[in-house]
Amino acid sequence: MTAAVAMLALTAPIVSAGGADDDTLTINGDLEITTKAEAAPHLDGHLDEVISGWHFRSDETQALEMDDFDNPGMIFVDQAIDSWNTAEGSEDKSCADCHGDPEEMAGVKAVYPKWNEEAGEVRTLQMQVNDCRENRMGAEPWKYDAAAAINMEALLSSVSRGLPVNVAIDGPAADTWEKGKEIYYTRYGLLELSCANCHEQNYGNYIRADHLSQGQVNGFPTYRLKNAKLNGIHSRFKGCVRDTRAETFSPGSPEFVALELYVASRGNGLDVEGPSVRN
Ligand code: HEC
Ligand code: HEC
Repeated sequence: MTAAVAMLALTAPIVSAGGADDDTLTINGDLEITTKAEAAPHLDGHLDEVISGWHFRSDETQALEMDDFDNPGMIFVDQAIDSWNTAEGSEDKSCADCHGDPEEMAGVKAVYPKWNEEAGEVRTLQMQVNDCRENRMGAEPWKYDAAAAINMEALLSSVSRGLPVNVAIDGPAADTWEKGKEIYYTRYGLLELSCANCHEQNYGNYIRADHLSQGQVNGFPTYRLKNAKLNGIHSRFKGCVRDTRAETFSPGSPEFVALELYVASRGNGLDVEGPSVRN
């Protein structure tokens, strides 16, 4: 496909539309989720308000996230609870042996990716879980964004629902954050489109049949009706970069770790809502 044809296929159909809806997200009738918030100071001049992707989905899709019995993502959370309680590796230990109930992890998802002083790196939640598997359990690490890893991330997310995303972007995390920001504003691929071209300048509009959101990650992992499974943040990034007809980075790569930190920081103030439901 030539660049010109690709441009037509993708960019021409961006159609203006009404933006985010005014619905409110309450889960199981009592857990209120903050899905719109004042943008963090670092977004000055870019966004005034940050909005969860939930507001850009159809009423039917939105409803699936409002009750854990209807949310297909919760099946995978149950699988992760089994895994949480299963002893593995040379140490024959389970997550529960050291960490107690999953609820002990409330608030953790909200601050990841996070700087780890000892390792001298910014870690995503999956990297931290793998560190526990390798170095504390003597077990094999999970492949990045593999089902077991995503399910565990969904469990850790589920116990943080309703707590505000608050990733640190200063101090030792600042370099990684800057790198992520640079990637966010770089135009990739034959279409020469950056994340910002779609998710900052065109959210609320339609591209093909898709209602563009701000591309927030507070709802991850997301259960997508399209592929009927939980999807990881890096896999979503990969799909978006590929849609610009560009070579893409791999899940777990330093580039996507940096991008995750940056995109997560654009959602500071929104509540954790994963596992969410999207189309
Ligand atoms: C032998 C004990 C042990 C086992 C087993 C273990 N962990 Fe850990 N885990 C720790 C310790 C100790 C820390 C704190 C390490 C640090 O801060 O660097 C930690 C940290 C974490 C954190 C980060 C918490 C935070 O506040 O940042 C997460 C998430 C986590 N573990 C998840 C898991 C999961 C999921 C499993 C099972 C797959 C697991 N751990 C198994 C000992 C363990
Ligand atoms: C050509 C336009 C386009 C570009 C460029 C693009 N995306 Fe997307 N992205 C989409 C569409 C369409 C969707 C699905 C609808 C939605 O949630 O916006 C999506 C969804 C997402 C989601 C899921 C949001 C949710 O609530 O589930 C994230 C996260 C995301 N994009 C991040 C990115 C990042 C980071 C980049 C840059 C590497 C990027 N996107 C580049 C079009 C784009």
